[in-house]
Order: sequence, then C-alpha cells, then structure tokens
Amino acid sequence: MATQKIIIAIDGYSSCGKSTLAKQLASQIGYNYIDSGAMYRAITLYFLRHQVDWSNRERVLEALKDIHLSFEYNAAHGRSEIHLNDENVERFIRDIIVAEKVSEIAAIKEVRTFAVAQQQKMGKKRGIVMDGRDIGTIVFPDAELKIFMTADPEIRVKRRFEEYYATNPDITIEEVMHNLELRDYIDSNREESPLRQADDAIVLDNSNYTREEQLEKVLQWVTDRVGSTQMA
Ligand code: CDP
Repeated sequence: MATQKIIIAIDGYSSCGKSTLAKQLASQIGYNYIDSGAMYRAITLYFLRHQVDWSNRERVLEALKDIHLSFEYNAAHGRSEIHLNDENVERFIRDIIVAEKVSEIAAIKEVRTFAVAQQQKMGKKRGIVMDGRDIGTIVFPDAELKIFMTADPEIRVKRRFEEYYATNPDITIEEVMHNLELRDYIDSNREESPLRQADDAIVLDNSNYTREEQLEKVLQWVTDRVGSTQMA
C-alpha cells in the first residue's frame, strides 16, 4: 500500500465550493486542510481594524510585522480555524465587510509574499490539501494533484447568499452577486499571481454534482496518483 504523502492544490473562482471539497477530502484521507483565503481575510480584518492605509507600501510592511497567523484545531467544530494574533477570528473574517476589501488587499505584492511564505512552510512535509487562487501555479507548482474548480455563476451566488443569510438577514442577492463578480475580476486581473488554471490542473465543474459525487471523483484522482487513499 502506498504511503507517499502528496500536496493537493484546489484553485478556482469565489464561492464554487473549494473549501467544502477540501475539508471533506482532507478528513477522508487524513491530511491537513489549509484555507489560504482565510489568511488573506484575516490580514484584511487586521488592516480594517487598525485603519492601515494599504495604498502605502511602508504602512503595509509595518502592519505585516504585527500580524501573526496560525491555524488551531477546534475539536467542537472538527476543523482548524484561523487565529490572528492568538484570537480566533473565523466568524469575523466571513463578514461581507471583509469580503468587500479582501481582493484589493490580496493583490498587494508584500501581502502575497508574506502569506505565500507561510503557506509553503505548511506544505514542507506534504500531506496537505490547500485551497485558494494561486496554489497550483505559485505556492506549490509541484503539487501532485491540482484541481481547478468552477460552477455556474447563479449557483455560486445562491450558495453564498444562503451562507450569509444565516447570520445576516439584511443581505441581498444583488450585494452577494456584486461582491463575487468584483472579487473574481480583481483576482483574475491583478498583476501579482492572478487566478488562472495551472496547465496541469484538472477542471472540476461541480454545478451538477452532489458533495458525495464530487468527493468520489476526487478520491479516484488521488488514488490514481498515490495508488491508495488509505494514507492516514
Ligand atoms: O470562499 P471564497 O471562495 O469566497 O474566497 P476565499 O477563498 O475565502 O478567498 C478570499 C479572497 O482572498 C479571494 O477573493 C482572493 O482575493 C484572496 N485569495 C488570494 O488572493 N489567494 C489565495 N490563495 C486565496 C485567496
């Protein structure tokens, strides 16, 4: 039985189910799941809370020196959650206020250098599933399995609207749609590591798959690469 640990990179547009798949997959094969988007969201939260002028490179560099990010396992939720300077900020980073600014901040070169260095460190021992926008292209160009996810825009908007609505009944479909469109535009057109499909990525359009079907498909791709999914 193969025991070789690999890196699984999942990239794609906003809200197409990357983290759902990544979480399911990691727990099934005993890998660590790293949500790279949570890191950009936590940095954004810090900049907003501390009114950092992110148009100023010096201010950005100063602020980054005061930011410590870590993922801590939360047994009650059965997953790792992001901590910003030792505070669990999971529930704050999902707010629309953060979503409105995160792509602007994630486009800053210094911010990316800061986050990517930490992501690469987390992958040193392999055995991880990481999702984001540049994982298969920049962070782990040598990842053994790269998946590029997409889903119909209406489905993505509907899914994200339902998530927001649970905690914010004032949210509108238009607001969510605008945010997803804006982020996809900025993420795809920025100068620094824009969102794009790696040449060796497999495309997964999950518009018409159930969670179980998509997991089954991806487990097969993992097995094709390592010979077995019994890798824990
Ligand atoms: O969950 P959703 O797909 O909406 O987004 P996310 O993965 O939480 O990422 C939030 C934002 O962080 C993205 O819109 C990107 O601007 C940025 N991001 C990035 O630039 N690079 C990554 N590897 C991950 C996220």
